[in-house]
Amino acid sequence: MTILSAGRGTTKYNIHIYDKKLPKNAIDNHIGKNNKILIITDSGVPKKFLDELKKNIKNNNLYFLILQNGERSKSFITYQKIINKLIQYKFDRSDLLIAFGGGVVGDITGFVASSYLRGIKYIQIPTTLLAQVDSSVGGKTAINVKEGKNLIGAFYNPHLVLISTYFLSTLSEREFKSGLGEVVKYALIGNKKLKKIIEKNPIEIIQRKSSILKVIIEESIKTKSKIVTQDERESGIRAILNFGHTFGHAIEAKNNYKKITHGAAITLGMVIASKLSFYEGHIEDYQLDNVINMIESLGLNTDHSKYSYSKLKKYMASDKKVKDGKLNLILIDKKFNAFKTSKYNIKNITRALD
Ligand SMILES: NC(=O)c1ccc[n+]([C@@H]2O[C@H](COP(=O)([O-])OP(=O)(O)OC[C@H]3O[C@@H](n4cnc5c(N)ncnc54)[C@H](O)[C@@H]3O)[C@@H](O)[C@H]2O)c1
Repeated sequence: MTILSAGRGTTKYNIHIYDKKLPKNAIDNHIGKNNKILIITDSGVPKKFLDELKKNIKNNNLYFLILQNGERSKSFITYQKIINKLIQYKFDRSDLLIAFGGGVVGDITGFVASSYLRGIKYIQIPTTLLAQVDSSVGGKTAINVKEGKNLIGAFYNPHLVLISTYFLSTLSEREFKSGLGEVVKYALIGNKKLKKIIEKNPIEIIQRKSSILKVIIEESIKTKSKIVTQDERESGIRAILNFGHTFGHAIEAKNNYKKITHGAAITLGMVIASKLSFYEGHIEDYQLDNVINMIESLGLNTDHSKYSYSKLKKYMASDKKVKDGKLNLILIDKKFNAFKTSKYNIKNITRALD
């Protein structure tokens, strides 16, 4: 087991990473036997995992709630449903919520935790690769409204994050690849060790060998936790975590957030941002080849030819990163460090996309 941490002061929390099943006492150590626990999960998380988790918790007041899987559950209606349960079971501030699932379950559970009784403890047990390397760390919680994704939310750190590669064995190829896209991101925005590990072990990663998965998860979290601890409320350096996201979000929006996973869209976004970095003279041609080869070695798609500038333009213009009419972009330099800039030739965006 490896222990990392994130956050500062009283909201600092540990992240435990295992390459086998979670140990039996993983939760009991963090909550009194007579306190109440509500496990929130969704219908896509294999039932055997929930059964094993329940068996491991020696608590007298254990409740659970299974949401419908999918993005639509990150809604006001589900929020209300969870709050109703907490009121019905008389949860107080000494009790605990557990988010047991992917980013959808993590985001809505975190948002409920941030607002119920002005804040109640929650533990993240992420079961998708994307949630393990990204959404469970950093304290961003949210629900969606029809006007947009993640428009309502709070920054609210979990009490603890428990990660096990064991959960990843049942993940679909599509969801596994979505998470790998985020792993690649950390390799390209400054984690050189992770970049080397990916370049040396693509087959082992694709085969989901737990020892290598644990290492790439650890390295991803080291990068994420360093950045989010420095900039908890996204006022500066945290922006580099959005590498590939301006183009990626435009691709997701173009597909109505349906046909393509977040990670797959971000992967295409990173290819486009790397091409733009090359056209802007920040990286060499062999470095661009290197980025594309690394992504393809993991079996991820790099072909963004369906998404021309004219098709994505309107979605890019509504991006959160547009300030004073100018789009801020995250690019990479020759040392594979990421930086934010609003200085680029617009023609190079067209070249990168077309
Ligand atoms: N808070 C953040 O910082 C942050 C960062 C990135 C993404 N997000 C959010 O995360 C969400 C996406 O998360 P996601 O990619 O995990 O998607 P998800 O939560 O929808 O999970 C994807 C699918 O995998 C299923 N699943 C979960 N665990 C499984 C397992 N072990 N085996 C088999 N199937 C399993 C789920 O039921 C679901 O059907 C989005 O809502 C996004 O906005 C949040």
